[in-house]
Amino acid sequence: MPTISNKVIISPSIIAGDLSTIGTDVKTYNSDIIDILHMDVMDGNFVPNLTFGPGFIKNLQKHTKIPIDIHLMIEKPENSLKQYMELNPKYITLHYESAKFHTRYLNLIKENGINAGLALNPSTPIDAVFDLIEFCDIILIMSVDPGFYGQPFIKQSLSKIGRLKEHLLLNNFNNVKIQVDGGINEKNIKDVVSAGADIVVAGNSLYKEGEINENALKLKKIAAS
Ligand code: DX5
Ligand code: ZN
Repeated sequence: MPTISNKVIISPSIIAGDLSTIGTDVKTYNSDIIDILHMDVMDGNFVPNLTFGPGFIKNLQKHTKIPIDIHLMIEKPENSLKQYMELNPKYITLHYESAKFHTRYLNLIKENGINAGLALNPSTPIDAVFDLIEFCDIILIMSVDPGFYGQPFIKQSLSKIGRLKEHLLLNNFNNVKIQVDGGINEKNIKDVVSAGADIVVAGNSLYKEGEINENALKLKKIAAS
């Protein structure tokens, strides 16, 4: 096994794959390369697309030991938070724009031993979450409007990542990770990681063609180069 850079964590967005065969496909994922698995939960309400819920994720977990990273793109996440927490994922991230009582839900997630995250749409200014960072283990910066995989990366996201990174460093939030999600590929991953991303979500660039482990390793190598 070649030495793989642990600098950036890669989280494949499985909706960009074939969900009808993902239970079998996931068995081929090399956990030395694929660090976590990104679950895009969409409700057809917060975003104009519908994917899957906790039942699907629970079944998928029977086929892999790779930790799960749940990205909730749903209205009123508090109504189903318990079901997602019961899955014992590594991360649960809810949208800043979809929840009213952020600290209540983030604390609840943390109390259940799960890393808690807040996600921001491209139109939400980064300083909206500055007063909430101490309640978070992870901040997810969306680099596309949520709803679909395969959209082009919004390049203004780079300065947003940079401003968050600067804020974390200045305020000694050394354990809070930055996740970036949307349109990340071989051409822009280096910029995304240089700006401050710790975790990169990738859909289209991993699933469009070729083999997922090779594609993910290639992204990691470019990020570390
Ligand atoms: C968008 C989702 C993303 C998306 C990533 O709403 O949250 O996770 O599936 O896929 P790509 O990398 O193709 O933009
Ligand atoms: Zn996502």
